[in-house]
Amino acid sequence: MKVEIETKKLYYGFPVILVGYKDSKWNYNVTTSSSSYTLGDTITMALSSASNAVKNIEQYKEFTVNVPRQSILNKVEICGFYSGQNKIGMADITYDIGKYVDAPLLDECMLSIECTVHSIIDHNGYTNFIGTIKRRLVCESLIDAESKLIGTEFNPIYFLGDDNQRIYRYFNEESNISGENMGCSSNESICG
Ligand SMILES: Cc1cc2nc3c(=O)[nH]c(=O)nc-3n(C[C@H](O)[C@H](O)[C@H](O)COP(=O)(O)O)c2cc1C
Repeated sequence: MKVEIETKKLYYGFPVILVGYKDSKWNYNVTTSSSSYTLGDTITMALSSASNAVKNIEQYKEFTVNVPRQSILNKVEICGFYSGQNKIGMADITYDIGKYVDAPLLDECMLSIECTVHSIIDHNGYTNFIGTIKRRLVCESLIDAESKLIGTEFNPIYFLGDDNQRIYRYFNEESNISGENMGCSSNESICG
């Protein structure tokens, strides 16, 4: 049985990303977000409209999405708690500039995507950027001999929780190949 809960936010598990952008004050900068998804060559990413990142991405119309792993959780938090500061310096982040966008690709992240802004939608204090993916880069150790992603080696940080508390969670060792599970069944039932 489910019960209704009172909360202003309920995040049900989203990968943490570090958004890189050109900054008019600090040259380049990074902000932590958990609000993104991609479909084909389209990427959607949202941030508080009051953030330094939004001001600059609206101006320069390009950004990068970088996926960190657990080992740099300290940098994830520095970039998520010091609004408007020089977070590349504070978190000692090294980077290259994109091939198609003037924004930083973070060395310590296992995956980076170069994006240009296609459209911007403000809603309830959040700015949603719909972007076009220009280039995808993946750490060599996550690619096989045929340049395909080794999905079982990919370990992002997941962010979830409610008003009361938000936590980071990590994948376990299990995986199933998509499209091969329709004949499977399980006795486990938690809810629904
Ligand atoms: C794990 C994590 C996830 C976050 N996700 C988001 C998010 O999805 N959207 C958002 O607006 N802020 C998010 N934040 C908060 C911003 O990173 C934070 O407000 C930051 O200081 C904004 O910096 P800026 O004003 O310099 O851009 C998150 C912070 C953390 C630590």
